[in-house]
Amino acid sequence: MDGPSRFVMQSFAERYGSAQGPRVFRAPGRVNLIGEHTDYNLGFVMPVALDLACFTAVAPASDGRFHVFSKNMEQAREWAISEISQAQPARDWSDYVMGVARELVLAGYPVPPSNLLIWSTVPVGAGLSSSAAIEVSAASALLGDRPMEPIELAKLCRRAENDFVGMPCGIMDQYISVFGREMAAIKIDCRSLEHETVPLPDEAEFVALNTMVKHELGSSAYRQRVAECAAAVAVIREKNPRVESLRDVSSEMLSGFRAVMKPVPMQRARHVVSEDERVEAFVAACRAGELERMGALLAASHRSLQKDYEVSCEELDFLVDTALGLPGVYGARMTGGGFGGCTVNMVRPDAVLGFQATISEAYESRFGLTPDIYPCRPSAGAGEVTASGR
Ligand code: GLA
Repeated sequence: MDGPSRFVMQSFAERYGSAQGPRVFRAPGRVNLIGEHTDYNLGFVMPVALDLACFTAVAPASDGRFHVFSKNMEQAREWAISEISQAQPARDWSDYVMGVARELVLAGYPVPPSNLLIWSTVPVGAGLSSSAAIEVSAASALLGDRPMEPIELAKLCRRAENDFVGMPCGIMDQYISVFGREMAAIKIDCRSLEHETVPLPDEAEFVALNTMVKHELGSSAYRQRVAECAAAVAVIREKNPRVESLRDVSSEMLSGFRAVMKPVPMQRARHVVSEDERVEAFVAACRAGELERMGALLAASHRSLQKDYEVSCEELDFLVDTALGLPGVYGARMTGGGFGGCTVNMVRPDAVLGFQATISEAYESRFGLTPDIYPCRPSAGAGEVTASGR
């Protein structure tokens, strides 16, 4: 058993004093290499699961209630089992747990009286999908030995986020947390919900840099972008009723609507449609080992998010612009929803240390903040950590 699992088991014993050891379930955070703001438009994304993850320890509770303790927050919550289906959001970390508990009950998987302890190494607010990691690890823990198709697990966790937490996200974060692969990225088709494994070239490393900021605007702008994409689809559908989402639109088709579509929805659609094309091109370049081409696509993705989708910010742009001028850097872009969080950088392995030192120093002298650095080592998707030891 690894260090984090042991820490979680020990914390569980301290909290609940249970004689019987808990089971521990792990679900990873992610970094998205390319395909941003395409998932809720039913397009393509290409994330990797990280070795940063959320761990949920679970054991039966003897008092018939549902207890949850966040080790990160040092906060406890509890409910009667009968309250779960009627629960209302508390607008804090516990919503991710209660959201999946409620979805499980609604889907016909009663939540047994349980003690849960949750501990995550995924930084909050960094755009590395800390919320999906909690959702997927908590849902896996509450399911225990009851089988559920992995794709149903991902969908259930997304429903918790959409319907309980109230965030209209796409499926990427929950999907990669369930389906992550060691040593590889996965390209997800967010319409068919199928994926293909894409091994990453050895001649490049991916490094995430945290701006250490999360601008307030983020969640309202996200909703607005979802609505703007729907507005673009509505205009296209007037002429072409078979179009159901921006996934059905090519760049060529979109340019035919320049005269009738307002500039803002046009810009948003242009990002989404071109980003889907970039994901396909990136996968092809990756398979062919065309590193320069991969890097150029990352940079183009950033420009599109910055100028057309308008979800970047000064700190992200600074990190990307600086990275693109440094030796050994193939490409860089913001990753995740935007308005702060991380950039992802594709760097030649022998240049990584120098890159990290130079860019940290530049960021510190510009913003007075030291960026946290995360190597993006592709890791496995969710599962039980204690299984082999039982
Ligand atoms: C957030 C959402 C995802 C996705 C990204 C942008 O991380 O949770 O579903 O939309 O933003 O690509």
